[in-house]
Amino acid sequence: MSSPLLAEATRIAREFDYPAAQVQRGVAEYIRQSNEGLAQENTTLSQIPTFVTAVPNGTEKGLYLAVDLGGTNFRVCSVELHGDTTFSLTQSKIMIPRELMASGTSKDLFTFLARQIEAFLRIHHNEHFEAHQRRRREGKGEEELFDLGFTFSFPVRQYGINSGTLIRWTKGFNIPDAVGHDVCALLQSAIDDLDLPVRVAALVNDTVGTLMARSYTSPGETGTLLGAIFGTGTNGAYVEKLDKITKLKSMKDAHFDTSTGEMIINAEWGSFDNQLGVLPSTIYDRELDADSNNPGIQMFEKRVSGMFLGEILRRALVALHKDSKVDLFSNVSITPEGLLYRQWGLDTSLLSVVEADNTSQMTDIKTALKDHLNIENASNEDCQAVKILTHAIGKRAARLSAVPLAAILIHTGKLQTDDIVDVGVDGSVVEFYPNFEAHLREALREVKEVGVEGDKKVRIGISKDGSGVGAALIALVASKDENLKNPRE
Ligand code: BGC
Repeated sequence: MSSPLLAEATRIAREFDYPAAQVQRGVAEYIRQSNEGLAQENTTLSQIPTFVTAVPNGTEKGLYLAVDLGGTNFRVCSVELHGDTTFSLTQSKIMIPRELMASGTSKDLFTFLARQIEAFLRIHHNEHFEAHQRRRREGKGEEELFDLGFTFSFPVRQYGINSGTLIRWTKGFNIPDAVGHDVCALLQSAIDDLDLPVRVAALVNDTVGTLMARSYTSPGETGTLLGAIFGTGTNGAYVEKLDKITKLKSMKDAHFDTSTGEMIINAEWGSFDNQLGVLPSTIYDRELDADSNNPGIQMFEKRVSGMFLGEILRRALVALHKDSKVDLFSNVSITPEGLLYRQWGLDTSLLSVVEADNTSQMTDIKTALKDHLNIENASNEDCQAVKILTHAIGKRAARLSAVPLAAILIHTGKLQTDDIVDVGVDGSVVEFYPNFEAHLREALREVKEVGVEGDKKVRIGISKDGSGVGAALIALVASKDENLKNPRE
């Protein structure tokens, strides 16, 4: 007989079940919403045309700069593509001050970013930098600008390969005066204020970077179909047939190369089913959303990605702790000011540790509870209850992640051939959450159009450095585009 605590934890855990029939419904609805997004603007699935019309084959060469804004860190790197599927990368990473993420102005943020680029150039490319400054001072000579790929991992309405306006912030960022503005122009103007030898050549979502990087490095002839992030946020980008992107016809000024007949689409699947027609919803999901800074938006992301899984678990644990019929953390002093009762007080990395500890003494779980929540002396039964909930929340996230993947496989018809379908993934959840891929694949096999045979054709590989290499690859494509907007015109 299990104790009242474990019985109650198990009951709550069941609320996170996401059975095969619901996965199947989710896939059908995803296909419907994705077709809608290809035809019109302002739909839940944005299906953003990226103006990137080819994936690389590994022979690309050159030196490019790339920067990445999209999570807690800002990264600046230079990438040397060797043209033989390999590359070398030099990078620096800096934490973005909280106040710049959520309360400052866009000018504050972009000036901060340009300063980091300047510091990077001075350290790693000082000769080029000094020469540029000298030429400028003497007013002579051709400008030799670094082409930069700007990985900006938020929903942006793109107008060309190096322009696009911010639709909305996600993942805890909130700088209202940037919404509706061209983020490439904002970065370029901050760069020009500092007189740096840099041209913002390409605007890149991290998923598109992941797809490009995977396609550059992955073995074999087959280009990659899909790049996906399961990290702080979640999203995917895939290769679509141009004639299916019917909303392109109404984008009058859009110019792009049509020779491949394809274009990469940034799905922005974090906002799949914002209306909650098919997504599972527990009381914890609903409360998390109501208390978030963007209620009603990114509803898929709020059930899947690293920014939110810890908060879902925290809310479920609070419910158990408040329940006088069960004893959770009864040997522990927990105050209402403690981390357990603080919104966002529980980091998602705790879930990975809990899921990984299968020992009888659960020492790692105890240490993690102490480190993350200041909870000392948790009993074995407390740990078991935490584990039951964690497992349920993580498994639901992984099974949900199969929905867009299955939908894109079906929608693009890629399973109809004998070829391997290559998928590049990145992000802390897929990389560190134990068995994430196994649970995802189990759900994928349950989708009738995919099944065991379809799943076998899908090759999933981690694609590191997408935001560096991928952005460099897009900057390369863009720098060859004569129509590229010259920032100094
Ligand atoms: C953003 C996407 C991004 C994803 C992964 C989401 O919150 O809307 O643009 O690709 O996070 O970083």
